[in-house]
Amino acid sequence: MDAIELLTGDHDEVRRLFDQFRSASDADNEDQERELQRQIFVELETHTRIEEDVFYPAVKELGVDGLTETVAEGIQEHHVVKVLMREIEDLSDHSVFKAKMTVLIENVEHHAEEEESDIFPQLREHMGQERLDELGDQLAAAK
Ligand SMILES: [Fe+2]
Ligand SMILES: [Fe+2]
Repeated sequence: MDAIELLTGDHDEVRRLFDQFRSASDADNEDQERELQRQIFVELETHTRIEEDVFYPAVKELGVDGLTETVAEGIQEHHVVKVLMREIEDLSDHSVFKAKMTVLIENVEHHAEEEESDIFPQLREHMGQERLDELGDQLAAAK
């Protein structure tokens, strides 16, 4: 599995959990919402860590104009999500919990979409398959 396939798989997994969270929310099932929130946070913590430790530095190394800026923005988008996660963990007010989860989900969906439509295609162009495979192994090991 190369780096792009691995990271896209992570995105799809978290999108699946978002759908389940929305269903739990629609059904007013608070216990299930909290359980899904915990699963979502585990996924996001792992995914942002391996991107920041392994993936983004490798992308920056390419020195492609525009791509370096997109990565810098990506790191700040991760930061916003981490702040939201910290706040959500301590929340007892259910309506605020739901509102913050909605904002977090929207942020992550936008961010993942940008990686898939902007970073990944440029990477296919500028990074050889051998390096993408090697990076996929490094990401899997970091997980
Ligand atoms: Fe990311
Ligand atoms: Fe990502």
